[in-house]
Amino acid sequence: SASPNTPLYRLHEEASRLYHHVLVNTVAGQPALNYLTKRGMSRELIGQFNLGFAPARGEEDLLVKYFTQKGIDYQLMRASGLFTEDQTGQLHDRFFDRVIYPIKNANGQPIAFSGRLLTKKATENAPKYLNSPETPIFNKRRTLFNLDQAKKAARKEGHLTLFEGFMDVISAFGAGVRSGIASMGTSFTDEQVAVIARTTDKLTICYDGDAAGQNAINRALTMLAASRLTLRVVQLPAGMDPDEYVQANGQAKFQEYLAHAEETPTAFRLHFLKQGLNLANQSELLHYVEAALREVAKVTDPVERDLYIQQLAKDYHLNPATLTGQVQELAATAA
Ligand code: GTP
Ligand code: MN
Ligand code: MN
Ligand code: MN
Ligand code: MN
Repeated sequence: SASPNTPLYRLHEEASRLYHHVLVNTVAGQPALNYLTKRGMSRELIGQFNLGFAPARGEEDLLVKYFTQKGIDYQLMRASGLFTEDQTGQLHDRFFDRVIYPIKNANGQPIAFSGRLLTKKATENAPKYLNSPETPIFNKRRTLFNLDQAKKAARKEGHLTLFEGFMDVISAFGAGVRSGIASMGTSFTDEQVAVIARTTDKLTICYDGDAAGQNAINRALTMLAASRLTLRVVQLPAGMDPDEYVQANGQAKFQEYLAHAEETPTAFRLHFLKQGLNLANQSELLHYVEAALREVAKVTDPVERDLYIQQLAKDYHLNPATLTGQVQELAATAA
């Protein structure tokens, strides 16, 4: 096509093919292939996501050498984000000694890469995951990992599934959950909410089963509240992320867990609000019940409201009629 960005897309396509070739066909790629295999990634899955490897720095940088030999324009290479520039204007590969995860746009074209450290410990200068910088073809705030494949799956599965990490999306895919997407390491953005809402009408959030994950779910739910999306939350057992769950319990168990553990945003919030409170203490309990009723008051479906009220009444030995009255009052004040 005649887009001015066509050369940038081509460059990413070629880089992606080269990184993948290094991973699956070369001696240099062997440690990375072993690493991925140990992490439960099949050859099929590695191919499905076009995973690759950027080898350690040698005499010459892999991509610099490859593209220079092909006569690729210096300014195009500079603009691609695939290189860093030293004081003399010399280009160097941005990614080295990292497993490469191609990041594709909604059409399945690679537009950026994320590289993961193999074994070495992450430091300030060497983060666990390193992403391409923004370029004319890569807008981080708008991009969702695996959207190209997930949007097709969403038509069949009826929803998209939002994970925290690339490995979560890939392991879930291997387990048959092909509707998985992830934001770009940066937190979830309003632009991504808009992209999701244009793609589907239901979103399942499945973040890591730790405090950071729960806080991130809470934040995502707030951002998604104004959208027309039907939202569901799946909380994993403490300390596990989706990828770890698949590796520990197998693909079938993961599918089953996703299908059965989903809860409504309100049910999630009613648990979340309890964190750090001592409900044996009467004033903390009252504080919790008030906050919980505020959440319930936001629910528009009267049957769903009743369900939460019954549950709260039962759990804390309260009069459901009193709670209902309070919810009606809160709903009237909010309206
Ligand atoms: P693994 O350790 O490979 O299983 O990764 P993870 O996905 O479990 O990582 P984690 O839960 O720590 O972080 C979730 C996501 O945040 C990752 O998939 C990355 O997209 C992003 N992330 C994690 N660490 C970094 C980092 O050091 N830099 C950047 N830019 N993003 C990161
Ligand atoms: Mn489903
Ligand atoms: Mn995490
Ligand atoms: Mn994780
Ligand atoms: Mn993980």
